[in-house]
Amino acid sequence: MVAVKQEGWSSRTAFILAAVGAAVGLGNIWRFPTLAGENGGGAFVLIYIACVVLIGLPLVLSEVLIGRNGRTDAYHSAKKLASDSNVSKGWAAFGGIGISAAFLILTFYSVVAGWVLYYVGVFIGDFFGNLTSGNPFAGALLNETKEEIPQRMDNLFTNNTILLSMHTIFMFLTIAIVARGVTDGIEKAATYLMPIFFVLLVCITIYGAFVGEFAKAITFLFTPDFSKLSASVVNEALGQALFSMSVGSAALITYGAYVPKETKLAPTAGMIAFADTGVAIIAGLMIFPIVFSAGLDVAAGPTLVFKSLPIAFQSMPAGSFIGMLFFVLIFFAALTSSISLLEAVVAWAIKKFQCSRAIAAWGVGGLIFLVGVACALSLNIWSEYKILGFWNIFAETNIMDTIDGFVGKILLPVAALLTTIFIGWKADKKLVDDQTSLSGGKLVFYRFLTAWVSPIAVSLILIFGLFPDLLPN
Ligand code: PFF
Repeated sequence: MVAVKQEGWSSRTAFILAAVGAAVGLGNIWRFPTLAGENGGGAFVLIYIACVVLIGLPLVLSEVLIGRNGRTDAYHSAKKLASDSNVSKGWAAFGGIGISAAFLILTFYSVVAGWVLYYVGVFIGDFFGNLTSGNPFAGALLNETKEEIPQRMDNLFTNNTILLSMHTIFMFLTIAIVARGVTDGIEKAATYLMPIFFVLLVCITIYGAFVGEFAKAITFLFTPDFSKLSASVVNEALGQALFSMSVGSAALITYGAYVPKETKLAPTAGMIAFADTGVAIIAGLMIFPIVFSAGLDVAAGPTLVFKSLPIAFQSMPAGSFIGMLFFVLIFFAALTSSISLLEAVVAWAIKKFQCSRAIAAWGVGGLIFLVGVACALSLNIWSEYKILGFWNIFAETNIMDTIDGFVGKILLPVAALLTTIFIGWKADKKLVDDQTSLSGGKLVFYRFLTAWVSPIAVSLILIFGLFPDLLPN
């Protein structure tokens, strides 16, 4: 049996960087602009911000405090708060559901991060001129026609050698960092990668403001057209807010466990929520001016970043250099998030199996890698497998989309719902209140949001996710 030593962040700043790194990821740079583009811009953004403030933020605070009180993985921290509060340990289920969600998210997250890595390679090839022909990264986008550029993604989806090598490299990096530990691995990665990420974000946004149609992007993102609002837009906005802030997936509880006793949690949770939302909006301001100036469709969907943006970069000054930086930026964001997903599962495995961190990281990471291989293959040779085909909402989806949908529609909302009911109604009031560092009206408001607003709103996502026909459009 290996003694499990208590690990922790070396400072509050380290925790904030790591937690912001966990929250800021593909969800901010890839999914948020995609959804804002598809759902008419301003109205979506407004509803999204309301969801962040009223539902996401209190949940971030609740999860971090559960972790800080338990000082261990999400499942055992939830169990500890249940026993401290003299309620059934069954409430700890949300910790277990969150850990399962983290496991499943990482399987497809790593595949998508692999696409990003491939595009980093493509733009490096582009920037440094045509590599030798026959090299998959060669063929420089600059020499391709507007019709050929988007085909790169279609070709990627049929090329298992590249898909699987990129997935392997990404998982390898994630595992290697988590295996090094909280301070030497996770904290160090966040303190190097996040500042570079922010600098790149600001620089590319300024570049887009000068060469692209910035004013049009501002109008698009901040002028709500309420005729675009529908129940499904609200539903999408809430689901995206939870995913983007990493709520319901055990990561924040796990990171909370390493937070020093004296850290005030409410302002810290506020900073995480603010940074995550700020990055999503800036990502919109970075991407839309470029998309508008190239006359492309903002509602292109999930291919916006991978197909439309490269077309736009081609016609812009220093396009291949900026394109390279852009994909490096997404790559860094994805890596700090994937680290948090793996850590959520690894922390549990260390405690459960009393094993060393290295064994837990390589063991759990290896399993996630294997399921990820199935996700990658479901883009081509396994596209016909419908693992939950008997269920109407998953009848048509391949393995990757089924896992994504199952987590987003079921696991995350169920974990978030149980968490908010537990904190709002079951957990020891004094224990919770003391941990929040809130008082007066703010505390009353937090309690109200946690006990009433979040449970109702999250139940709605769950119901409409499961029974989409109920959605009035
Ligand atoms: N919040 C991340 C993103 O926006 O890409 C995704 C994520 C990371 C979800 C960690 C859940 C999690 F535990």
